[in-house]
This record gives sequence, C-alpha cells and structure tokens, in this order.
Amino acid sequence: MTTQPSQAETRLGFPTDFVWGAATAAYQIEGAVAEDGRGTSVWDTFAHTPGVVLGGDTGDVAVDHYHRYREDVALMSSLGLGAYRFSISWPRVQPDGSGAVNAKGLDFYRRLVDTLLDAGIQPWPTLYHWDLPQALEDAGGWPARDTAYRFAEYATLVQEAIGDRVTNWTTINEPWCAAFLGYASGDHAPGRRDPEASVRAAHHLLLGHGLAARALRRKGVRVGAAVNLYAVSPASEAAEDVDAARRIDGLQNRFFLDALLCGRYPDDVLADLEPYDLGIEGGDLGVIGGPIDMLGVNYYNRFIVTGREGAAPAITSPFAAASPWPGSEHIGFVKAGRPETAMGWEIDESGLAEVLTRVATEYPPVPLYVTENGAAFDDVVSAGGGVEDPDRIAYLDAHLRACHAAIAAGVPLRGYFAWSLMDNFEWGWGYAKRFGLVYIDFETQARIPKSSAHWYSSVIGRGGVGL
Ligand code: NOJ
Repeated sequence: MTTQPSQAETRLGFPTDFVWGAATAAYQIEGAVAEDGRGTSVWDTFAHTPGVVLGGDTGDVAVDHYHRYREDVALMSSLGLGAYRFSISWPRVQPDGSGAVNAKGLDFYRRLVDTLLDAGIQPWPTLYHWDLPQALEDAGGWPARDTAYRFAEYATLVQEAIGDRVTNWTTINEPWCAAFLGYASGDHAPGRRDPEASVRAAHHLLLGHGLAARALRRKGVRVGAAVNLYAVSPASEAAEDVDAARRIDGLQNRFFLDALLCGRYPDDVLADLEPYDLGIEGGDLGVIGGPIDMLGVNYYNRFIVTGREGAAPAITSPFAAASPWPGSEHIGFVKAGRPETAMGWEIDESGLAEVLTRVATEYPPVPLYVTENGAAFDDVVSAGGGVEDPDRIAYLDAHLRACHAAIAAGVPLRGYFAWSLMDNFEWGWGYAKRFGLVYIDFETQARIPKSSAHWYSSVIGRGGVGL
C-alpha cells in the first residue's frame, strides 16, 4: 500500500518564468536621512515625535542601506533573487515634493539600479511607500488634491532619470495604510485623526496613482499599484457581524479594487462614507481606473469581524480606529485561535488563495504579483552565530503552496516577493519586529542570513517548494 504524501510534503513546481523576489522600502532601510540633500519626510517628523514609535526608534540610521547597498545587492545575488522590490524616497529625489530635483538623490537610485542589473536582478521600484515630503504635508498632505498632481510630476522625473533601465513600476504602496493609519487613527505619519481628511487622502492617493500611471505607461514599461488585501469573514451569522464584515471588506478591499480595476467606488462604501466629502471631481474615476499592466497584492492575514457592541473580546486594533465612518467603534476583530506571528497576526494561508482567486474571478483580468508576504518572529542569534527561524520557513512554505493552488486554479499570478529581504524599521513598532530573511544586528549592522534565507534560496534555485 502506498501512502499519499501530506499536503506539506507535496512537491510543487512553479512556472519557469515565475518572478522570485524580496521587498523593502526606503524609510525602513536606507537611513542617511540628512545626507546628500535629502529633504524631510512625514516619517522623519513623526518618528521624532516623543511617544509615537515604540522605543523612540527612528529611521535615521535604519539598516544603513544607503551606504551598504552594494553589500546588500551581493547578498540578494547570493540568494539567487530574480527581482528586488524597493521604494524610492520622494524627499531624497525632490526634497520639497515639488520644484527642484536633488541630483545626488537620483544618483543613489541610478547606482542601485545599475548594481542590481549588473547582478542580474530586475529592479522593481515603488514610487510611494509612505514617506511624503514634509513640505507637501504642510501644504495639506494627501487630503489636498494638489498632492496627487505633485506625485505624478515626481513619478515622471524619476522615470526620466532611470526609466531606460526599469521595466516594472509600482506607483503607490498600500494606499489604505497611508490614508487611514496616517489620517484617521493617527498610528502612522503624519499622525492626524480626522476622518474626512482620511477619505480624501484615500481618493487623492488613488488619483495620484492614476495620473502617474498615465504618465509612465509606454511600450516596454509595465505599471501597477500594490494594495493590501485581506480575507474577511464575519465572526458569526448575526446580521451585525455580517454587516461589519461587509464594511471592513468594503473599505479595505473593494474600495481600492473597484476603483483601480473598474473605475468606480462601490455604492455601499460610498453610502457608509456618506457624511464626508471625498473630493471626487468629474473624470477622476476614469483616471484612477485607467489601464494598468499588473496589480500587486500584499497579504498578511485574515480579519474575522464582529459588529455586536461589546461582543468581541475585541482585539485592540488600529483597524477599528482607522475606519472613518460613524459607529466604527462597534467594529471588533476576533481571533480564530490559530498560531500567530510576533505581530499577533493569525497565520492563515487559505486567505491568500482566497484574495488572489477573488481578484481573478470578480474583476477584469490583470496579471497579479504577490508584492509582499511574510512574518515577524522573535529571532535570536544562536551561540554558533546563525539564526534558525523554522516558523518563518513554515509560514513562507504554506503561503507559497497557497500561491501554487491559486495558479493551478487559473489565477494569473506571475511572481512573489517575500517581505522582507532583511529586518528593518517596522513603522510604529520600530526595530522590535523582525520580518527579514536576513537578520540585522542593529548595533554592528552585520547581516546574517537566517535559515529561511537559505531555504528561500533553494526554493528559487529549484523553482518550487518541496522539490
Ligand atoms: C506592509 C508594508 O508595506 C510594509 O512597509 C510593512 O513593513 C509590512 N506590511 C509589515 O507590516
């Protein structure tokens, strides 16, 4: 009698042209915040505000990637990465967010892109990963329409500088976070707590994407946006829970997907946001829903939502406070009792297959990339100097299996970027949460590939999991 291999043992090969990558973002890794003419971003200001980031951490030094990028690219090369997703710091390139360009800032990205290409690694820049120039925030920030136009100008000047060497562009990263953690809950920069400002910010981030995509798209260039999608389930069949789940799904997922892929906002979400003026002008949705070449999906976990007042052992979550509609204080998030990462996020790889399948079946066809997926764990350096992180390997393995299942079901998933290449500044958590494949000793800046890095390297080398 032969025994069937368990699901976790099954050998799964991915398409030969599948893109295997890892991701980072400028403020989380670069440091060098006052060097070579870089301007101030909202994250510089926010992180230097006492009490807002755990441990008083800032991105001033981060993992010193600005100076160590050659070493970091060599590390990527040793892992066999095919692509590297990084972000470009707007205030490094255009210190005030408009007008004068900082040539030295652009030079850094030119050098980075050249070094990547020399190593055979495709550069996948993201133009906005949350570090808005402070001058633009002072002029109104994302709630002000003008910021969207400034973003498109900045995108154009970056493309003029490095566009001959870059094929794949991402405009904005996780606009939900930038809008609602930044302007509603205040957990992220600029730390404002103004519901109307948050929904205007969401609309203008999307408008900025649309204007930038229109400016960047041309033959041989592919442009997309990266959205954070969640699997969402109601905590029970109770009408309040079902409606709360609809609201969370509406604002987290459908608001962005409908706008980007169909050029409309969902009616029920607009009804939820009825007290507010989003600042929509004629033609905006046509710009936002203009053609794109790919969609980036960042996936971390599932939300199980309750709307019953006092029902939840409701998890304290910024996501409730970040929801701008009246009555959102009744929204709670409950746990299913699954294993968790160090962020307290339950691990549920089925949610990744679910969101990918949903985009593929409910929206017009578009090539998909998982532009972020990964987990924080409390990694430690062993006496022998290595870092063993079997939980992260299990997490990545399970999520890659979910990707494979989605592809097998017909989802046009073309690539996967692990978050993150290396430990870094995890926003409000500072350096306390480690998402990296590579461990960073923040005292010495030593890079130590964790066992997950070696594992991922062999997945890439063999073109799949369990091979
Ligand atoms: C999403 C963000 O894009 C990234 O910056 C962050 O570090 C990870 N999620 C983990 O929270």
